[in-house]
Amino acid sequence: MRIVIKPNASDAADTCAALIEAALRKTPDMALGLATGGTMEPVYARLRAAHEAGLSFARCSSFNLDEYVGLAGDHPQSYRHYMQQHLFDHVDIRPEAAHLPDGAAADPVAAAAQYDALIGRCGPIGLQLLGLGSNGHIGFNEPSSSLVSRSRVKTLTRKTVEANSRFFGPDETPPHLSITMGIGTIMEASRIVLLATGRGKAQAAAAMIEGPLSAHCPASILQMHTDATVILDEEAAADL
Ligand code: GLP
Repeated sequence: MRIVIKPNASDAADTCAALIEAALRKTPDMALGLATGGTMEPVYARLRAAHEAGLSFARCSSFNLDEYVGLAGDHPQSYRHYMQQHLFDHVDIRPEAAHLPDGAAADPVAAAAQYDALIGRCGPIGLQLLGLGSNGHIGFNEPSSSLVSRSRVKTLTRKTVEANSRFFGPDETPPHLSITMGIGTIMEASRIVLLATGRGKAQAAAAMIEGPLSAHCPASILQMHTDATVILDEEAAADL
């Protein structure tokens, strides 16, 4: 595990975006694993700027980590909508190559298994981008998730529902179920880059890096990956 600590969130996002850009320039037809969340917004802003400066996404494919169950892709809080808004609508990625789990599927259990199989056929993912939940989750693999899990339907913890409810209106019920890439699926990526910024991530970051390898902190599995880079700002690194 390589740990990179930057003075602030903006510098951390610069470093993260630069790694993705370099990977894509080196291997234009790579499968890219993507993540959502507030932390990633500045990363996608930098990738949009890189696209304007000549970076092409035309030959790559992408696979997002997760999606809420019960939200169609055009719902403003769906992760599909997030990705369209922050990246896909602004770059030359082929629409058919930009994959997310289907949160609106009639059978989400089957949809999760199909998503895992699709990643298996198109993979390995060359670079998987990850955020970090304040409880140590990656994707929506909540604490106690099997460290060898495949993509599946996961119930969100109260803490995660609360953390993400800030994106929903007062009259909306935030989803309690998700389809997420499994931890085993994530670990098959050739390379992993995790970005975490802000004081709220400090405890989880310390558990991920220094704590025991444990399903209580799903991100601690990254200690076992042969090419994982963790990028933190000083606030997120405060408990190391
Ligand atoms: C969600 C996503 C995760 C993300 C996490 C952190 O729960 N499923 O993939 O890493 O939130 O989000 P934020 O960056 O907004 O703190």
